[in-house]
Amino acid sequence: MALITQSSIQSVLDTCDMLDLVAPYVTLKKTGSRFMGRCPFHEEKTGSFSVDPAQKLYYCFGCGEGGNAITFVEKKEGLDFADAVRFLAEKYGVSVEYEESSPQQEERRKVLERDYSILDQAATYYSRVLWESDAAGAARDYLRGRGFSDSVIREFRLGFSPASGEALIKAAGSKGYRPEELQRAGLVRSRNGRVYDYFRGRLMFPFTDHRGRVLGFGARVLGDGKPKYINSPDSHIYHKSGLLFGLGNARQSMAREDRAYVVEGYTDVIALRQTGIANAVASMGTALTGRQLREVSRFTRNLYLAFDADAAGQQAMLRVHEAAAGLSLSTHVVNIPAGKDPAELVLAEGGKKVFDELAAGAPTLLEYQVHAALSSFDLGRAEERVRAFPELKGILEKATDPIERDELLRVISDGLRLSAKNVAYLMESASQEEESDGGGRQRRVLSQEEIVERNFLSLCLARPGEAGRFIQEMTEAHFTSDTNRTAFNWVRDRLADASGQSALTGPYGAEEISAVPILPELVIRAETEMTEPDALPETFLRLCEAELRRRIGILKAGLAADDESSEDFQEMCRLERRRRKILEMIQSGSYEAV
Ligand code: UTP
Ligand code: MN
Repeated sequence: MALITQSSIQSVLDTCDMLDLVAPYVTLKKTGSRFMGRCPFHEEKTGSFSVDPAQKLYYCFGCGEGGNAITFVEKKEGLDFADAVRFLAEKYGVSVEYEESSPQQEERRKVLERDYSILDQAATYYSRVLWESDAAGAARDYLRGRGFSDSVIREFRLGFSPASGEALIKAAGSKGYRPEELQRAGLVRSRNGRVYDYFRGRLMFPFTDHRGRVLGFGARVLGDGKPKYINSPDSHIYHKSGLLFGLGNARQSMAREDRAYVVEGYTDVIALRQTGIANAVASMGTALTGRQLREVSRFTRNLYLAFDADAAGQQAMLRVHEAAAGLSLSTHVVNIPAGKDPAELVLAEGGKKVFDELAAGAPTLLEYQVHAALSSFDLGRAEERVRAFPELKGILEKATDPIERDELLRVISDGLRLSAKNVAYLMESASQEEESDGGGRQRRVLSQEEIVERNFLSLCLARPGEAGRFIQEMTEAHFTSDTNRTAFNWVRDRLADASGQSALTGPYGAEEISAVPILPELVIRAETEMTEPDALPETFLRLCEAELRRRIGILKAGLAADDESSEDFQEMCRLERRRRKILEMIQSGSYEAV
């Protein structure tokens, strides 16, 4: 795909109207220079969501979501970056330009477009056969017999492939598609120099991407024959491992409801849709891959796994944790009754209600794992409890949320009949989990130091005229996270570029906002928070003090007890004197000397 030019992105951002854009999601109230409302990214009763219409940025003081018009559209409309830019361009009447491409790229793009159109027309063809051909009568009866409505069959563009072996080749040939092209798109196979339709006499389930483009097909036998499904061969368009069945249909309601159901089968997705649950996708029958989860995480971070209630389904759920690593997903398990799959459940009399109740009470993946582990041991016997312990501890160590960990601990200590001492031991050894700095919805808890650092940077934006002389005194060592160091470097460079008042007041370019992730937070804090005149020097001193404290700590750790004559010891004393002086200045509140 051709790249959108940077200048098009910028003019989309320049032209869009943030207040107008968020209006359908948030009722904003103007108070002073700020616009506040209830955050569309998390549940809240009072408004923490702030929009800066001049800078065209938003930030939520409650959940930490922040960004510009493009990130807003990505999240709320469930679009990727390029689509979000096009969405805004259309809405605000800006024309989008693309980077010039090489002849080879141009050639590749043409092949790709040709294949997309072949696949789309094949889907249309199979669907027409399903609805119109006599030979598809059994297929229509089969689908209706399973309880699928005509409208849901049409929505997912289900079809039927004729059994003859060359029906598609002929139909496509009459439209000018050559057999080699059909083969490239995975619709035809060749044997002994002859070509045949790849799919014959099967129900056709088109696979689509998040934009609804057809990438390939799953083809089910009518009835109980084997193999049950034949799927398109992997091609330059279709890769089984990254695809989620139904994503194009589900993405908007996923984003809107901030939840995704993940099931195993195509028929599960369709059955759920029929009963009004539109935010479901299927894993293609394999274990969920990291790529599939990353795809889902673009639309929501709340995952509800509803796999088949058989051994394979249970196993697949237990493995999701590894694939989800680093994605900050909150994962729950909808416990489908034994022997069923979600389609059978929801299409049965009263089944939708059961499903809804199971979803409402869905345990977290870790709770589910703890229960599964506990029930795999005979806990009446002491040696079994001992054997269960390491497995449970392993599960507990994955819990990063303290509330969930306490809950899990309670279940485990009940199940294992552990003494209080052992519970404490478990707690101790499971509490050391490092938090990842991977962004995402689940906001990392900031340290007190990081908060002060961000306050300082936001004060620099609020008072660019005074900030220069402070920031010249500072280095990256004054900041304790990568995110904050990136922001510090950016503030310092901006101030150095153009000295004086206007240096930091924007406008901020699209590239700057993506390079400095906390920029929306800093800008909006700078504008909306009341600040004391002394806040800048005071925060500056606090950062200096913290930096000295860290350096002293490092020196101290390296010193032996009787090392009082060493250079390091002298240095430590010098730093300590400086630190004392700074503390005195902060306590007395006199900053003239700073
Ligand atoms: P299931 O056997 O549960 O099928 O496999 P299903 O989709 O629920 O179909 P029905 O309801 O019995 O008609 C779940 C998924 O595993 C993959 C498919 O993605 C299927 O949707 N699968 C299964 C295959 O790819 N090939 C197979 O032969 C079987
Ligand atoms: Mn199934």
